[in-house]
Amino acid sequence: VRASGARQDTGSFDPIAAVFDRYAEPTGGPLDDYLLGVLPERGPRAVDLGCGSGRHASLLASRFRQVLGVDVSEPMLAIARGRRAHPNVSYQRRDLRDVRAETDGRFDLVFSAYALHHVPDLQETLRGIRALLAPRGRVVLVDVVAHRPDVPRRWFAAQAIRTVLTDLAGRRRPPGEALELFRVNVHPAWLDHVTADRFLRRDEFVERYGSVFPGARFHDLYRTRALCWDAPPA
Ligand SMILES: C[S@@+](CC[C@H](N)C(=O)[O-])C[C@H]1O[C@@H](n2cnc3c(N)ncnc32)[C@H](O)[C@@H]1O
Repeated sequence: VRASGARQDTGSFDPIAAVFDRYAEPTGGPLDDYLLGVLPERGPRAVDLGCGSGRHASLLASRFRQVLGVDVSEPMLAIARGRRAHPNVSYQRRDLRDVRAETDGRFDLVFSAYALHHVPDLQETLRGIRALLAPRGRVVLVDVVAHRPDVPRRWFAAQAIRTVLTDLAGRRRPPGEALELFRVNVHPAWLDHVTADRFLRRDEFVERYGSVFPGARFHDLYRTRALCWDAPPA
């Protein structure tokens, strides 16, 4: 289901774009809080690699003069253009590995959330991402980590039940939103998708990302790990 080495592979989000978008907003809070603190207040150019349905576009658009969002999935981009259009955001259907300084210029922020576990050539991709940074530019990369690379379906199903019970008992979310999230979490297409994903362990994430971005700051957000690294001056 994951994006293969072939550049024409559209990935697996095409059939689940709408389901994913329903999932994205109610679960975005912790990452949004982290991003508010870590993203530069303002800057000329930002790129969102694997932007999906444009969940982060508003924040990026409010801080950067020009934002490029790339994704291989046209259905995801259609939602982004329909629901999260901004005059200074350009959504383009492209493989994130094809964004290059030679053709796209350099960026003051390179951002990616939950997309890099889909690329088969992670180290090469990370080196490419580093090459996109302008002097003193910042990279913020976020992805899912797990205690084992293939998380079984029953774990996701059990987690969906734990989440809805905690949401309702602790009034963590409005009941309607908690039930909607539960429906998404147990949607067969969503379960098929997440069980086919393969993730790094936390220590592997630090080792592999840290080898390309030495001295990076890491931050844990539930089942995800985030990296923040600043490029040196020219
Ligand atoms: C889990 S979604 C995350 C979307 C968005 N970043 C967010 O946080 O809501 C992963 C996205 O990565 C995209 N993707 C996977 N492989 C890609 C690639 N090689 N180039 C560009 N996008 C890719 C998928 O199409 C999907 O939209």
